[in-house]
Amino acid sequence: MNQQQIDAFREALKFSPDNLPLRKLLADSLFNLARYEEALPEYKETIRLSPDNIALKISLADTFFHLKNYSTARFLLEEILDNQPNQAHAALILAKVLLETNELKEAKQVFDNAVDENPNLYDADFEDILNKKIRESGLALSNDWVDEIEQMFIDTDLEKPKIAFKDVGGMDAVKEEIALKVIHPMTNPDIYKAFGKKIGGGILLYGPPGCGKTLLARATAGEINANFISVGLNDVLDMWIGSSEKNLHNIFQEARLNAPCVLFFDEVDALGASRSDMRQAAGRFIINQFLDEMDGVKYSNEGVLILGATNCPWYLDAAFRRPGRFDRIIFVQPPDQKAREEILKIQLAEKPVENVDIQSIAKQTQDYSGADLKATIDIAVELKLPESLKQGRVIPITNSDLKNAISKHKATTKEWFATAKNYALYSNESGLYDDILKYLKLK
Ligand SMILES: Nc1ncnc2c1ncn2[C@@H]1O[C@H](COP(=O)(O)OP(=O)(O)O)[C@@H](O)[C@H]1O
Ligand SMILES: [Mg+2]
Repeated sequence: MNQQQIDAFREALKFSPDNLPLRKLLADSLFNLARYEEALPEYKETIRLSPDNIALKISLADTFFHLKNYSTARFLLEEILDNQPNQAHAALILAKVLLETNELKEAKQVFDNAVDENPNLYDADFEDILNKKIRESGLALSNDWVDEIEQMFIDTDLEKPKIAFKDVGGMDAVKEEIALKVIHPMTNPDIYKAFGKKIGGGILLYGPPGCGKTLLARATAGEINANFISVGLNDVLDMWIGSSEKNLHNIFQEARLNAPCVLFFDEVDALGASRSDMRQAAGRFIINQFLDEMDGVKYSNEGVLILGATNCPWYLDAAFRRPGRFDRIIFVQPPDQKAREEILKIQLAEKPVENVDIQSIAKQTQDYSGADLKATIDIAVELKLPESLKQGRVIPITNSDLKNAISKHKATTKEWFATAKNYALYSNESGLYDDILKYLKLK
């Protein structure tokens, strides 16, 4: 379309001003030439000629949008959508209006509706800009975003744990360390600040499997009535490759939105640079992203307690251990006699038992992890159940049932120490694994 043709349309319209198709052609031509000021009166005129024509109204609204008259554009579009919610094109323009007026949440919703209605309207550039703005707006987002963010991104299972420290047997030193390092700073920030102590950083728990790392992380959240987000890195890493950077950010963001929140990374070694894994190709990138988020440079991690757990700390990149990151590395050892007694009490608390000598059972379960103790009790229950069913009444678990069960389940922690010992002896940089050596009485 050129100026000559436009002049010709105008000339023709002088003779037949009510020729709707012709006037529409003129309006569309002006619009396509970005001559919105001139298109505006032409569209108004077409609507006068055909008041019920939705397509013309949408074009008029689009013209207002391009003239940056957002309130009028919005008014027209909402009117159209009120009557005909499936007008995808109107919805798309409305999304653009809402982006301009910084109503990001609404923009996202309306855009999604438009694309659902008509996938051809999908506009990747628009979506990129919108998502970027959403990310940048970060903590300015209001709380009702939480649900949507959860839906938009991976499912991270937000929960509010009901268990607390008292439900975790033993681990007194670890509990104390967590209290000092992360709980008190959060509950008494002013005192910490007054002493010039920096708040932040995370705690990494390591040790043999089944000794309560995951349990304690969850209990930490329960202890302070905080939300809990658990991310199992091994399980999800494969799935993430390609978009993990985005997902990691979203996980941190979700924790921030739900502060106070314990953000727990299980199997952090999955991110270890020293892992010779297929997945390592993407590893460096993800590690950097993780460290950025953890440092809280761009977004504050206030109210977010970061805990990590691993059975294989030696795979973990040293960068994770710098100040402000996992700067407390705590060895979670197998429960000692006293801790095993506590764990047995906790685990038997709601079971029918009779004449159980907790002390002697604890004595016979040297090297058992908390999970091993649980497995042992489960076996005792299994042994007892058929008899109870046969007699039609609950027959309590006795000491000999437990002894019997112990003979059927072996301790699982020794295997871990066989590996750990080598790292502790031969690559114990800066005494990282001294606790392992002490435990093995090698130091
Ligand atoms: N200290 C403990 N107190 C009570 N139960 C425990 C303890 N340690 C382990 N358990 C039991 O073993 C299960 C597995 O423990 P978990 O926390 O997953 O171990 P880890 O994360 O160290 O591998 C727990 O769900 C719990 O039933
Ligand atoms: Mg675990």
